Amino acid sequence: MKFDNNVINNLLKKRSADDLIATSKKSELKKTLNVFDLIVIGMGAVVGTGIFTIIGSAIQGGPEGLGAGPAIIVSMVLAAIACVFSALCYSEIAAMIPVAGSAYTYTYATMGEFMAWMVGWVLMLEYAIGNITVASAWTGYLVQFLKGFKHLMPDFILNFPMWLRNDYRYMFAFCDKYGLDPHTQMPYLFDKIPIAINLPAIFIVLVLTMLLIRGVKESTRVASIMVGINMFMILSFICVGAFYVKPENWTPFAPNGFEGIFMGAFIIFFAYIGFDAISTTAEETENPQRDLPIAIIGTLVLCTILYVLVALVLTGTVPLNHIDTQAPIAHAMRMINKDWFAGLISIGALCALTSVLLIYQLGTTRILYAMSRDRFLPKSLRLIHRKFRTPHVLTWISGIVVIVCSLFMDLSISAELCNFGTFTSFIIICIAVLILRKTEPDRPRPFKVPFTPLFPILGILTCGGLMLYSMKFLTTSSLYFPLWLVMGLLIYVTYGYKQKRLEEKIRLTRSNKVKSLVK
Ligand code: ALA
Repeated sequence: MKFDNNVINNLLKKRSADDLIATSKKSELKKTLNVFDLIVIGMGAVVGTGIFTIIGSAIQGGPEGLGAGPAIIVSMVLAAIACVFSALCYSEIAAMIPVAGSAYTYTYATMGEFMAWMVGWVLMLEYAIGNITVASAWTGYLVQFLKGFKHLMPDFILNFPMWLRNDYRYMFAFCDKYGLDPHTQMPYLFDKIPIAINLPAIFIVLVLTMLLIRGVKESTRVASIMVGINMFMILSFICVGAFYVKPENWTPFAPNGFEGIFMGAFIIFFAYIGFDAISTTAEETENPQRDLPIAIIGTLVLCTILYVLVALVLTGTVPLNHIDTQAPIAHAMRMINKDWFAGLISIGALCALTSVLLIYQLGTTRILYAMSRDRFLPKSLRLIHRKFRTPHVLTWISGIVVIVCSLFMDLSISAELCNFGTFTSFIIICIAVLILRKTEPDRPRPFKVPFTPLFPILGILTCGGLMLYSMKFLTTSSLYFPLWLVMGLLIYVTYGYKQKRLEEKIRLTRSNKVKSLVK
C-alpha cells in the first residue's frame, strides 16, 4: 500500500447514516425484540463477574494495583459517572442510526473506514476477550457450588483434578504459592508442554454457542430466566447481609487514598460493561428509536443502585482483610455462618455469569457480522443458517476464539484488556456524537444528549482519565493493549483495505456497464 492522498481519502471514507439504515432494512435478521427483552439483555450483560468476582480485587487490590477498601462505593460512583455520559451518547446514536454493530457502525458514519475497522477490532477486546474473564469466573463459582453440596456429590466430581479446571498460568501460580512441583500437579506432553484445560469453561461456552445458533429470541428467553434468578439472589444477599453489617468495618474508609479509589474505579468498571451490548441488537429490535435509549439508561441506573448496595453490605459484614477475591459474595455469607446461603448465592452467580457469556457471544457475532457485511472480513463468514436465520459460522468462530484463548489467558489480564477496549470505544462514541451534531445537524434525533457538547466532553475526559491513570500501574495489560492495536492495523493493511478497494472497483465497473447500456 503506497501512502499518498488517495490512501488518506480511502481511510477517511464514511458510510452515510442513510446508507447504513438502508442496508439494515435489507437485513435478514428477525425483528423480534421489545424494550423488556432489551433490558433483560442489558441486565444480563452487565450484572455478572464484576459484582460477583472482580469486586473482591477492586476492594483488596492486586499484584499491579492498590485496592479501594470500603471506598469502593466511591469508585463505583466514579465508574458509573464515566458510563453515564457514554450511555447518553450511545442512546442518541443508537436511536438515530438503529443498525447492528454498535460503536463500530457509528464510527463508520462519523470517522471513516480506518477508524471503523480499528473500533470493531477494539470491540473484540470488550466482547470476546471479556468473555474469557467471565468463562474463568464461571468455573470458580461452579467449584463453590459443588463444595456447597459436597454431601450429595460423588467423589470423582468433588475431586475433579485441578489441571482440568484451570489454565496453565493459574496452575503455575498455584504451584509457586504452595511450593509444589508443577510436574506433580499436571501432565506434560513430551515432558515439556504442561497441559491444563479449563473444561467447565469450555463446556459452558459450547452449550451457549449452540443455543445462540438456535436463535436470538430463544436465547433472550433463557437469559431472562437467568437474570430473574440472579436478581433474586443479589437482593437476598443485600437483605440478609444488612442485618450483619458492623459500621466499624467501614473504617478505614479509604485505606489507599485516591490511588486506591481510582484503581478501584478502573477495575470495577468491568461490572458496568455491557449496556452497550443492547445497541448491537438494534436490527433485531421492533421499535429501536423508542426502546434503545430507555433500555440503555434504565439498565445503567438499575445496576448502579444494586452495586452500591452490594458493596455496602459486603464491606460492612466482612473485615477488609478477610474479603475474598475468588467468590467474595458467597464467602461473605460463609463468614456470617450462612453456608447454605453461600451455596444458593453460587447458583445466582452461575446464572449471572451464564447470561453475560450468552449476551457477549451475541455481541461478538453481531459486530463481526456488520464488519463482514462491510467487506473487512470474508463474505463466507456471514452465512445465515437456513432454518434458524442466525449467523451460524460467526457464532461458531466467536465461541471457538473464547475456548482457545481461555487456554492461555488469565482472568485479571483479560478483564483489564476488556476495560481498555471498552473505555476506548466509549471515548469514540462521545466523539461521534460531537461530529454528527456538526455534520448532520438536521437528522431526526428521537433522543438527544442534554448539555452537548459538555456531556460528551465529560465522557471523553472521565473515560480517558481513568484509562491513562491505570496504565501507570497495570504494566502487563498496558503492553498487550497496543500490541492488540498493532495486530488490528496489520490485518487491515493486508486484508481489509485491499478488499474495500476491490469492492469499489467492482461497483465502478458495474455502474459503468449500466451507464453504457442506458446510452
Ligand atoms: N459487566 C459484565 C460482568 O460484570 C462484563 O461480567
